[in-house]
Amino acid sequence: MFTGVNPIKRFCFHSVYTLLFLALSCSAVNQITRGQSLRDGDTLLSVDDKFELGFFSPGISTSRYLGIWYHDAAEADSLIWVANRDRPVPDRSGVLTVAGDGNLVISDGNGTRVWSSNATARVESNDTVALLAVTGNLILSQNDTVGDVDRAFWQSFANPTDTYLPNMRVLVDAAVGENHAFSSWRSADDPSPGNFTLGVDPRGAPQIVIWENGNRRWRSGQWNGLIFTGVPSMTTLTNFQYGFKLTREDDGRLYFTYNPANASALLRFRIGWDGIEEQLRWNESRRIWDVLQRQPEEGCEAYNRCGEFAVCDESGRPTCNCMEGFRPRNLSEWNSENFTGGCQRNTPLQCQSNSSSQTGGEEDGFRSIRCTKLPDFADVHEGVSPDSCRERCLDDCECKAYSMINGIGCMIWSGGLVDVQHFGTGGGNVLNLRLAGSELGKTLRTKQNETPMFDTSKSREFSSDLSGPAEIIEGSQMNPADLPLFNVNCVAIATNNFSIENKLGQGGFGPVYKGKLPGGEEIAVKRLSRISGQGVEEFKNEISLIAKLQHRNLVRLLGYCVQGDEKMLIYEYMPNKSLDFFLFDPRKQATLDWAKRFTIIEGIARGLLYLHRDSRLRIIHRDLKASNILLDEEMNPKISDFGMARIFGGNQNEANTNRVVGTYGYMAPEYAMEGLFSVKSDVYSFGVLVLEIVTGRRNTSFRSSDHVNLIGYAWELWSEGRALDLVDPSVRGSSPQEELLRCIQLGMFNPTAEPFLLNAWKSAADPSPGEFTASFLLQTPPQATIWRNQMTYWRSGPWDKARFTNIPDMDTDYQSSLTLLDDLDQECSRQCLNNCSCTAYSFVNGIGCLMWKGKVVDLQVLPFAGQDLYLRLASTELGECHLLVQPINRTVIG
Ligand SMILES: *[C@@H]1O[C@H](CO)[C@@H](O)[C@H](O)[C@H]1NC(C)=O
Ligand SMILES: *[C@@H]1O[C@H](CO)[C@@H](O)[C@H](O)[C@H]1NC(C)=O
Ligand SMILES: *[C@@H]1O[C@H](CO)[C@@H](O)[C@H](O)[C@H]1NC(C)=O
Ligand SMILES: *[C@@H]1O[C@H](CO)[C@@H](O)[C@H](O)[C@H]1NC(C)=O
Ligand SMILES: *[C@@H]1O[C@H](CO)[C@@H](O)[C@H](O)[C@H]1NC(C)=O
Ligand SMILES: *[C@@H]1O[C@H](CO)[C@@H](O)[C@H](O)[C@H]1NC(C)=O
Ligand SMILES: *[C@@H]1O[C@H](CO)[C@@H](O)[C@H](O)[C@H]1NC(C)=O
Ligand SMILES: *[C@@H]1O[C@H](CO)[C@@H](O)[C@H](O)[C@H]1NC(C)=O
Ligand SMILES: *[C@@H]1O[C@H](CO)[C@@H](O)[C@H](O)[C@H]1NC(C)=O
Repeated sequence: MFTGVNPIKRFCFHSVYTLLFLALSCSAVNQITRGQSLRDGDTLLSVDDKFELGFFSPGISTSRYLGIWYHDAAEADSLIWVANRDRPVPDRSGVLTVAGDGNLVISDGNGTRVWSSNATARVESNDTVALLAVTGNLILSQNDTVGDVDRAFWQSFANPTDTYLPNMRVLVDAAVGENHAFSSWRSADDPSPGNFTLGVDPRGAPQIVIWENGNRRWRSGQWNGLIFTGVPSMTTLTNFQYGFKLTREDDGRLYFTYNPANASALLRFRIGWDGIEEQLRWNESRRIWDVLQRQPEEGCEAYNRCGEFAVCDESGRPTCNCMEGFRPRNLSEWNSENFTGGCQRNTPLQCQSNSSSQTGGEEDGFRSIRCTKLPDFADVHEGVSPDSCRERCLDDCECKAYSMINGIGCMIWSGGLVDVQHFGTGGGNVLNLRLAGSELGKTLRTKQNETPMFDTSKSREFSSDLSGPAEIIEGSQMNPADLPLFNVNCVAIATNNFSIENKLGQGGFGPVYKGKLPGGEEIAVKRLSRISGQGVEEFKNEISLIAKLQHRNLVRLLGYCVQGDEKMLIYEYMPNKSLDFFLFDPRKQATLDWAKRFTIIEGIARGLLYLHRDSRLRIIHRDLKASNILLDEEMNPKISDFGMARIFGGNQNEANTNRVVGTYGYMAPEYAMEGLFSVKSDVYSFGVLVLEIVTGRRNTSFRSSDHVNLIGYAWELWSEGRALDLVDPSVRGSSPQEELLRCIQLGMFNPTAEPFLLNAWKSAADPSPGEFTASFLLQTPPQATIWRNQMTYWRSGPWDKARFTNIPDMDTDYQSSLTLLDDLDQECSRQCLNNCSCTAYSFVNGIGCLMWKGKVVDLQVLPFAGQDLYLRLASTELGECHLLVQPINRTVIG
């Protein structure tokens, strides 16, 4: 396919305005600016080398098109976008430029424009830039907002061809109507728009639809906030939890987005020229695109194969059957397998007959049809209880059926029931079909509520209908941050009715069970003990906040369940249990080699950093310990159990709690003793955890010995130069000393969020890090230490409140210029302000308040580390707010 792309020569700049084709740099380039051009044969490459843009010829065609493809998979069928799909360039004379009017333009050899981006709402700009972003999006914007999709003049993601990629948004707007966002190629060799389109029908509950020449060919079934109800294979949690989302964005409109769990996997959806939509994933080892999903397959997936009021069943003989109470409209056609006529009612509904004359006619009722793909064209009423949904249907003679679906609401069908399928192997929803009373058996008629109870004996027919009480259905569809709500019965079945065999363990707040959803996805269910102080609202608020946390090193909360006293949290299942299970078991310890342990330490640190700093909320975990670090199948650590987490406002740093929770041994002293918790408390626990990982011993196992705890013991060995004796014998030999020492150091420099280290220059002339490092040992009492290549070189001795004990002649000037206070931030600021000679202060976690008197020397700004230094200034030097001290971020204190 990619005839003509020279993979070595990627792109050279050619000036449009000069004819001097000098040997300009031919390195990979990801953008072109105004006046630059891209010739046939040259390509742009996104900075991560994932996507490539250039001219190509599809299949046997010799015409040239401008397109974007996956760079790694270039030889395979991997085009994701084509610009001039209607008007190819006949030869290799095509050129892409950012033209004088700021638009992207393709011209042929005669200078004729064959394609233009035609950006309309465009700021007149002399510095327009087109960037091939790492997402595969070609973005035209001003130079100073390069790559900013929100301020782009034009972007290929808003003008897609046949491919839906992660990060692309598809508008779902009932006012706009059907959105035929993607159109197929005409044939394998011709990218011009073909017969098929793929997009969203937003009416009622949105669905994905494939159209053929404008007629429906396939639909996904309605979106219930979790899955497309007509694609039961989507019940695999990973599929929907990390994939599709219906989100209301800043512009007030709803969009479908798709973000797979594994961002590094190459994934895409494509509507093929043959009308088949496929989900594809690049298989690097086999160098082909694996097809994960195809629609429509032959048979019942074809739109409305059986006509109205009929059910298509792949395993049925015949495939098409009229719904109960209905018969084929044209029997001879039906018997010759022409189902287009559909079915008609045996007995008219009571409301359809002249009810005034026919007194005594039996009342209409409903028969439920289980495991169905719900019919097309539903009206949706939100915030309606199952009973009133039923009443609503009975009150309106046009209503032919109703269904209560969690995440959608009350669905009512008024016209014919079309495109109904029966899912034999589980999945699907319950459709309540309205029938005349005489068509209903006696037992069925007396049944009031058709909402199904799950029957454990028929787990094959397990429905993904997660119907729950109506008051918590409201709004759940429109608020994507809300967590999926599971039905208690569903969870009960998934966990085999909370059987003892499924019990994974007992946490402080209740037992945890292993479960399995109908799609085969494994889950962990935490059943909170009924006597929990929290109200339902607080419970829901808290978990919806936690649901917003997404990080690979945090255990993912998949959903929850509230019904009566019953409160449950549903998490992804971690096959390798928790860290303590390996770490402290002499038989399993050895399976955690140093490389694994180091990865685990890194992972926990990343997760914790995300909680503390990177997530929009500031979250303090408060119970970080080995048993709360779960391990996935690849032994990646995930922090779990946010039961005690507290969420902090933006600048709130510490809080008081009247109840000390947490686990002794891991708790920072100030928290355990005073109930004062902060980010520091977590970092302290992290330090303990790191030492446990290095030593393979529980912090608490030191209680009986001479040492207070692991940190104390570590500190002692370290100061005797025997730090490596700490290391778990099963990993000691094989591990790089440097890493081990760094981790021990990390555990001991506790509790500080940031390394407090000074690195000496390599030599007087070379500022790169040398072999000497200086630090405060953040231990009580603190001391200053100099290391040479990670080994202690010199120690100041502990600080005795006046001087370092190993420096008896420490001069008094020094003493007066450095004061160490064991106090809090605000107190430190106050102390500095109260002392006229204080020129600056810094509050360092674990050390306390540092104050400078006189000159502040040897400062260095570090991009990702260091401490906040507060420099005292006259209030006139400060902003309008008259702050008295001004922070200088990220400085190292000299
Ligand atoms: C350029 O114009 C000539 C004459 O009209 C035509 O024969 C040729 O095909 C054109 N080339 C392209 C690339 O359009
Ligand atoms: C741009 O506008 C021109 C003239 O109106 C039109 O012929 C062309 O099809 C447009 N191109 C695109 C990509 O919409
Ligand atoms: C754009 O460039 C033209 C010609 O170089 C110049 O006259 C004009 O002032 C520039 N406009 C802006 C906004 O810089
Ligand atoms: C675009 O921005 C970059 C970085 O901000 C700058 O180096 C470059 O000179 C700018 N180019 C133009 C054409 O203004
Ligand atoms: C597209 O539709 C046209 C006419 O409806 C038909 O002739 C052609 O075969 C169709 N192409 C494909 C690929 O189905
Ligand atoms: C993510 O995808 C990449 C590339 O396909 C693969 O190498 C890696 O193992 C995947 N990671 C996970 C966790 O699936
Ligand atoms: C690639 O294909 C092989 C063989 O089908 C399969 O075992 C492997 O899991 C695939 N790799 C990915 C990343 O899907
Ligand atoms: C099937 O029946 C419809 C009328 O219900 C008719 O129009 C159509 O031609 C029939 N199709 C075939 C293949 O006989
Ligand atoms: C310094 O930190 C404060 C709060 O931590 C932040 O609001 C501010 O933007 C930072 N300033 C710089 C220059 O990074």
